[in-house]
Amino acid sequence: MGVAVIGGSGFYQLEGLEQREERVVTTRWGTPSAPLVKGVLNGVEVIFLARHGIPHRIPPHRVNYRANLQALKDEGADSIIAINAVGGIHPRMGPEALVLPDQIIDYTWGREHTFFADQLEEVVHVDFSYPYSERLRQQLVAAADACSVELQVGGVYGCTQGPRLESAAEVNRLERDGVDIIGMTAMPEAALARELDLEYATLALVVNWAAGRSEALITMEEIHRVINTGMINVLSLVREALARGEA
Ligand code: HPA
Repeated sequence: MGVAVIGGSGFYQLEGLEQREERVVTTRWGTPSAPLVKGVLNGVEVIFLARHGIPHRIPPHRVNYRANLQALKDEGADSIIAINAVGGIHPRMGPEALVLPDQIIDYTWGREHTFFADQLEEVVHVDFSYPYSERLRQQLVAAADACSVELQVGGVYGCTQGPRLESAAEVNRLERDGVDIIGMTAMPEAALARELDLEYATLALVVNWAAGRSEALITMEEIHRVINTGMINVLSLVREALARGEA
Protein backbone atom coordinates (compact mmCIF):
# COMPACT_ATOMS: atom_id res chain seq x y z
CA MET A 1 0.00 0.00 0.00
CA GLY A 2 1.71 3.19 -1.12
CA VAL A 3 0.80 6.68 -0.05
CA ALA A 4 1.69 9.90 -1.78
CA VAL A 5 1.37 13.52 -0.74
CA ILE A 6 0.87 16.27 -3.31
CA GLY A 7 1.93 19.55 -1.76
CA GLY A 8 0.33 22.77 -2.96
CA SER A 9 1.27 26.42 -2.40
CA GLY A 10 3.40 26.69 0.73
CA PHE A 11 3.95 22.97 1.18
CA TYR A 12 7.09 22.09 -0.73
CA GLN A 13 8.55 19.25 1.30
CA LEU A 14 7.63 16.66 3.86
CA GLU A 15 9.72 17.47 6.89
CA GLY A 16 11.01 14.44 8.73
CA LEU A 17 11.24 12.25 5.64
CA GLU A 18 14.14 9.80 6.07
CA GLN A 19 16.13 7.88 3.44
CA ARG A 20 15.13 10.52 0.93
CA GLU A 21 15.65 9.67 -2.71
CA GLU A 22 14.79 12.06 -5.53
CA ARG A 23 13.48 10.38 -8.64
CA VAL A 24 13.35 12.31 -11.90
CA VAL A 25 10.75 10.46 -13.93
CA THR A 26 8.74 10.95 -17.07
CA THR A 27 5.46 9.46 -18.27
CA ARG A 28 3.61 9.08 -21.55
CA TRP A 29 1.75 12.27 -20.56
CA GLY A 30 4.94 14.25 -20.02
CA THR A 31 7.04 15.19 -17.03
CA PRO A 32 5.62 15.80 -13.54
CA SER A 33 5.94 19.19 -11.86
CA ALA A 34 9.06 18.20 -9.90
CA PRO A 35 11.20 15.18 -9.06
CA LEU A 36 9.33 12.68 -6.90
CA VAL A 37 10.79 12.56 -3.41
CA LYS A 38 10.56 9.07 -1.96
CA GLY A 39 11.31 8.37 1.65
CA VAL A 40 10.22 6.81 4.91
CA LEU A 41 8.30 8.58 7.65
CA ASN A 42 8.06 6.63 10.91
CA GLY A 43 8.48 3.38 9.05
CA VAL A 44 5.92 4.21 6.33
CA GLU A 45 7.02 4.68 2.74
CA VAL A 46 5.84 7.96 1.27
CA ILE A 47 6.21 9.73 -2.06
CA PHE A 48 6.07 13.51 -2.12
CA LEU A 49 5.41 15.74 -5.14
CA ALA A 50 5.32 19.54 -5.21
CA ARG A 51 2.36 20.38 -7.46
CA HIS A 52 3.66 23.77 -8.59
CA GLY A 53 7.30 22.68 -8.96
CA ILE A 54 10.34 23.62 -6.92
CA PRO A 55 10.70 26.56 -6.84
CA HIS A 56 6.98 27.32 -7.16
CA ARG A 57 6.72 28.35 -10.81
CA ILE A 58 3.86 26.44 -12.47
CA PRO A 59 0.46 28.21 -12.29
CA PRO A 60 -2.65 26.08 -11.63
CA HIS A 61 -3.83 26.03 -15.25
CA ARG A 62 -0.40 24.88 -16.48
CA VAL A 63 0.21 22.03 -14.05
CA ASN A 64 0.57 18.75 -15.94
CA TYR A 65 -1.94 16.94 -13.73
CA ARG A 66 -1.90 13.82 -15.90
CA ALA A 67 1.88 13.44 -15.65
CA ASN A 68 1.76 14.07 -11.89
CA LEU A 69 -0.88 11.42 -11.21
CA GLN A 70 0.56 8.89 -13.64
CA ALA A 71 4.06 9.29 -12.16
CA LEU A 72 2.75 8.68 -8.64
CA LYS A 73 0.81 5.64 -9.76
CA ASP A 74 3.84 4.26 -11.65
CA GLU A 75 5.96 4.64 -8.50
CA GLY A 76 3.51 2.53 -6.53
CA ALA A 77 1.11 5.02 -4.93
CA ASP A 78 -2.44 3.85 -4.40
CA SER A 79 -3.64 6.64 -2.15
CA ILE A 80 -3.03 10.37 -2.31
CA ILE A 81 -3.34 13.14 0.24
CA ALA A 82 -3.59 16.43 -1.63
CA ILE A 83 -2.77 19.71 0.12
CA ASN A 84 -4.48 22.79 -1.31
CA ALA A 85 -4.51 26.47 -0.34
CA VAL A 86 -8.00 27.92 -0.79
CA GLY A 87 -10.16 31.00 -0.26
CA GLY A 88 -13.04 30.75 2.21
CA ILE A 89 -16.70 31.55 1.52
CA HIS A 90 -18.47 29.69 4.32
CA PRO A 91 -18.53 31.82 7.50
CA ARG A 92 -16.82 29.02 9.46
CA MET A 93 -14.09 28.67 6.84
CA GLY A 94 -12.00 31.80 7.31
CA PRO A 95 -8.21 32.20 7.17
CA GLU A 96 -6.27 29.39 8.93
CA ALA A 97 -9.25 27.01 8.94
CA LEU A 98 -8.41 23.51 7.79
CA VAL A 99 -11.13 21.85 5.72
CA LEU A 100 -11.67 18.27 4.57
CA PRO A 101 -14.09 18.76 1.65
CA ASP A 102 -16.48 16.03 0.59
CA GLN A 103 -17.63 17.45 -2.75
CA ILE A 104 -16.28 19.32 -5.76
CA ILE A 105 -17.70 21.60 -8.42
CA ASP A 106 -15.46 22.06 -11.45
CA TYR A 107 -15.36 25.52 -13.08
CA THR A 108 -12.08 24.98 -14.94
CA TRP A 109 -11.77 24.85 -18.70
CA GLY A 110 -9.17 23.98 -21.30
CA ARG A 111 -7.13 21.72 -19.02
CA GLU A 112 -6.06 18.22 -20.04
CA HIS A 113 -8.57 16.55 -17.78
CA THR A 114 -8.78 12.88 -18.74
CA PHE A 115 -6.63 9.86 -19.52
CA PHE A 116 -9.42 8.53 -21.70
CA ALA A 117 -9.42 10.66 -24.85
CA ASP A 118 -7.34 9.06 -27.59
CA GLN A 119 -6.66 5.59 -28.97
CA LEU A 120 -9.39 4.07 -26.87
CA GLU A 121 -10.65 0.55 -27.22
CA GLU A 122 -13.82 1.69 -25.49
CA VAL A 123 -15.21 4.92 -24.10
CA VAL A 124 -14.78 5.25 -20.33
CA HIS A 125 -16.95 7.28 -17.93
CA VAL A 126 -15.74 6.93 -14.34
CA ASP A 127 -18.19 7.37 -11.47
CA PHE A 128 -17.50 10.66 -9.65
CA SER A 129 -20.58 10.90 -7.40
CA TYR A 130 -18.32 11.11 -4.36
CA PRO A 131 -15.04 12.59 -5.58
CA TYR A 132 -13.08 11.87 -2.42
CA SER A 133 -12.18 8.55 -0.82
CA GLU A 134 -14.33 8.15 2.29
CA ARG A 135 -11.81 5.72 3.78
CA LEU A 136 -8.97 8.23 3.44
CA ARG A 137 -11.19 11.05 4.75
CA GLN A 138 -12.09 9.09 7.86
CA GLN A 139 -8.44 8.32 8.46
CA LEU A 140 -7.59 12.01 8.25
CA VAL A 141 -10.41 12.77 10.71
CA ALA A 142 -8.93 10.21 13.13
CA ALA A 143 -5.46 11.71 12.69
CA ALA A 144 -6.81 15.23 13.36
CA ASP A 145 -8.44 14.00 16.58
CA ALA A 146 -5.24 12.27 17.63
CA CYS A 147 -3.06 15.32 17.17
CA SER A 148 -5.69 17.85 18.31
CA VAL A 149 -5.76 19.77 15.05
CA GLU A 150 -9.11 21.40 14.38
CA LEU A 151 -10.53 20.13 11.11
CA GLN A 152 -13.78 21.20 9.46
CA VAL A 153 -15.22 18.01 8.10
CA GLY A 154 -17.27 18.39 4.93
CA GLY A 155 -17.61 21.18 2.42
CA VAL A 156 -17.84 21.86 -1.28
CA TYR A 157 -14.61 22.79 -3.07
CA GLY A 158 -15.26 24.97 -6.12
CA CYS A 159 -12.34 24.79 -8.51
CA THR A 160 -11.85 27.94 -10.59
CA GLN A 161 -9.56 28.41 -13.56
CA GLY A 162 -7.26 31.14 -12.25
CA PRO A 163 -4.63 32.29 -12.10
CA ARG A 164 -6.53 35.46 -11.25
CA LEU A 165 -8.68 35.46 -8.15
CA GLU A 166 -12.47 35.84 -8.48
CA SER A 167 -14.62 38.95 -8.66
CA ALA A 168 -16.96 39.56 -5.71
CA ALA A 169 -19.95 38.78 -7.95
CA GLU A 170 -18.38 35.48 -8.99
CA VAL A 171 -17.96 34.60 -5.33
CA ASN A 172 -21.65 35.37 -4.74
CA ARG A 173 -22.56 33.08 -7.61
CA LEU A 174 -20.26 30.35 -6.30
CA GLU A 175 -21.95 30.63 -2.92
CA ARG A 176 -25.38 30.28 -4.55
CA ASP A 177 -24.03 27.13 -6.21
CA GLY A 178 -23.22 25.75 -2.76
CA VAL A 179 -19.45 26.30 -2.82
CA ASP A 180 -17.78 26.66 0.61
CA ILE A 181 -14.12 26.99 -0.37
CA ILE A 182 -12.50 28.07 -3.65
CA GLY A 183 -9.23 26.86 -5.08
CA MET A 184 -7.65 26.37 -8.48
CA THR A 185 -6.06 22.93 -8.34
CA ALA A 186 -8.52 20.26 -7.19
CA MET A 187 -9.55 19.67 -10.78
CA PRO A 188 -8.72 17.81 -12.86
CA GLU A 189 -6.47 16.27 -10.18
CA ALA A 190 -9.27 14.53 -8.25
CA ALA A 191 -10.93 13.17 -11.39
CA LEU A 192 -7.65 11.90 -12.83
CA ALA A 193 -6.96 10.13 -9.53
CA ARG A 194 -10.35 8.45 -9.88
CA GLU A 195 -9.56 7.45 -13.47
CA LEU A 196 -6.38 5.77 -12.23
CA ASP A 197 -8.25 4.13 -9.35
CA LEU A 198 -6.21 6.02 -6.76
CA GLU A 199 -7.82 6.87 -3.42
CA TYR A 200 -7.74 10.63 -3.04
CA ALA A 201 -8.54 13.16 -0.32
CA THR A 202 -7.88 16.89 0.01
CA LEU A 203 -6.73 18.84 3.03
CA ALA A 204 -7.54 22.46 2.25
CA LEU A 205 -5.97 25.31 4.19
CA VAL A 206 -7.98 28.52 3.94
CA VAL A 207 -5.49 31.33 3.28
CA ASN A 208 -7.85 34.26 2.63
CA TRP A 209 -11.49 35.26 2.72
CA ALA A 210 -12.88 34.93 -0.80
CA ALA A 211 -13.15 38.13 -2.86
CA GLY A 212 -15.62 40.63 -1.43
CA ARG A 213 -15.96 38.75 1.86
CA SER A 214 -13.67 40.97 3.93
CA GLU A 215 -13.00 44.70 4.14
CA ALA A 216 -9.57 44.37 2.61
CA LEU A 217 -8.52 43.38 -0.89
CA ILE A 218 -6.69 40.06 -1.19
CA THR A 219 -2.91 40.41 -1.12
CA MET A 220 -0.19 37.83 -1.66
CA GLU A 221 1.54 39.12 1.50
CA GLU A 222 -1.50 38.19 3.58
CA ILE A 223 -1.83 34.82 1.85
CA HIS A 224 1.83 34.03 2.52
CA ARG A 225 1.48 35.04 6.15
CA VAL A 226 -1.44 32.62 6.65
CA ILE A 227 0.33 29.88 4.70
CA ASN A 228 3.36 30.18 6.97
CA THR A 229 1.34 29.74 10.15
CA GLY A 230 -1.35 27.39 8.83
CA MET A 231 0.92 24.86 7.15
CA ILE A 232 2.34 23.93 10.57
CA ASN A 233 -1.01 22.31 11.42
CA VAL A 234 -1.24 20.71 7.99
CA LEU A 235 2.18 19.18 8.44
CA SER A 236 1.32 17.80 11.91
CA LEU A 237 -1.88 16.30 10.58
CA VAL A 238 -0.23 14.71 7.55
CA ARG A 239 2.62 13.37 9.68
CA GLU A 240 0.13 11.91 12.15
CA ALA A 241 -1.88 10.27 9.37
CA LEU A 242 1.25 8.81 7.81
CA ALA A 243 2.89 7.80 11.09
CA ARG A 244 -0.21 5.90 12.11
CA GLY A 245 0.29 3.99 8.90
CA GLU A 246 -3.29 4.70 8.10
CA ALA A 247 -3.10 6.50 4.83
N1 HPA B 1 -9.77 31.79 -4.91
C1 HPA B 1 -9.28 30.79 -5.66
N2 HPA B 1 -8.19 30.12 -5.35
C2 HPA B 1 -7.55 30.46 -4.21
C3 HPA B 1 -8.01 31.48 -3.38
C4 HPA B 1 -9.18 32.19 -3.75
O1 HPA B 1 -9.64 33.12 -3.07
N3 HPA B 1 -7.13 31.57 -2.35
C5 HPA B 1 -6.21 30.60 -2.54
N4 HPA B 1 -6.44 29.92 -3.67
